[in-house]
Amino acid sequence: MSVLLTGGAGYIGSHTALELLREGYDVVIADSLINSSYEAVKRLEILTGKDIKFYQIDIRDGEKLDKVFEENDIDSVVHFAGLKAVGESSVKPLLYYETNIDATISLCYAMEKHNVKRIVFSSSATVYGVPDFSPIPEDARRYCSNPYGWTKYMIEQILRDEATARGDWSVILLRYFNPIGADASGMIGEDQSGIPNNLMPYITKVAVGTLPYLRVFGNDYNTVDGTGVRDYIHVSDLARGHIAALEYGKDFVGSEAFNLGTGKGTSVLQLVNAFMKVNNIDIPYKIVERRPGDIDEYYGDPSKANKVLNWYAKHDIEDMCRDSWNFQKNNPNGYKE
Ligand code: NAD
Ligand code: WQD
Repeated sequence: MSVLLTGGAGYIGSHTALELLREGYDVVIADSLINSSYEAVKRLEILTGKDIKFYQIDIRDGEKLDKVFEENDIDSVVHFAGLKAVGESSVKPLLYYETNIDATISLCYAMEKHNVKRIVFSSSATVYGVPDFSPIPEDARRYCSNPYGWTKYMIEQILRDEATARGDWSVILLRYFNPIGADASGMIGEDQSGIPNNLMPYITKVAVGTLPYLRVFGNDYNTVDGTGVRDYIHVSDLARGHIAALEYGKDFVGSEAFNLGTGKGTSVLQLVNAFMKVNNIDIPYKIVERRPGDIDEYYGDPSKANKVLNWYAKHDIEDMCRDSWNFQKNNPNGYKE
């Protein structure tokens, strides 16, 4: 029996594949490599000593996806595949709706056809939009502020409707907060091409000398030090959350959402200072204008995942900073030679 990981060559997918393989699961990966590299899969094979069944396909191609289900004994799916750049989604909304939603519908058709009834989906804290308060529980009001967020919102609904219609499906929606860090081996990590949008990849590119300084987007927010506060979670903790969800899904029918976060907020400057201290490296920064669309502060309430999935985030901010730098330092050009 195998777990199919769509988008399994990407940042979170590769870390989840690694934890699954370490725990003795068989995995199959289907990824178009549009935003990732086959090198990540090769490194998973080196780290685990196992061969990984890999299909370079766009999962919107139903015929090719059928072949993946025909050739493997798949009993559950973790669905990571999709586009995730918030800013780009506002410029190219149709691309985001088309890619993320069509991919999910194509996947559901294939699951129906091949009688696979369990799915774990990569949702996001972005479905809470501008929250009324933190920590945010799963039943908080949902409303998105960009097309990327709406794709997550809509896919959650599509999967819930599918669970209701099928009657015997298990649909677990995992709402990630801000994943950072890398596997402690330093072999796999986040490899954003070009100028990164997100804070930690930007910090590591400054640390490695690719970018001259960090731009801190605003220090006049109503937060501990005026800079934006987020719930950063180590990607390896997040990866283990998928295993907990897969195990829970074995005896569960219906649909259920879980926050995967630490429940703690960290400001931009707190993160930068922790990074400098733990890695003994200077990160020059300049305070610049706020980034349009940014929220002052949000962090999640993970107590439902703690209780129901028996999942807890183990790593602290220092671990996240150390492991992010470890990957970047070992791989100054990411997965490129
Ligand atoms: P990523 O870009 O590294 O991984 C996504 C993978 O999906 C890539 O390998 C890409 O090549 C693949 N892909 C995209 N479209 C595809 C298609 N049509 N068919 C096959 N493969 C396709 O991103 P990530 O950070 O690993 O995120 C994984 C999932 O988690 C995404 O759905 C993302 O929206 C969600 N998520 C990410 C974050 C975050 O901050 N990284 C937060 C919340 C949710
Ligand atoms: C974090 C903080 C910035 C870059 C995004 C998506 C969200 C989710 C995770 C997928 C903010 C500040 C950032 C920089 C900075 N993705 N910052 N300088 O915006 O919380 O979340 O990724 O679902 O949907 O919106 O993450 O890492 O971009 O920003 O000062 O160069 O760092 O203003 O306060 P964000 P981020």
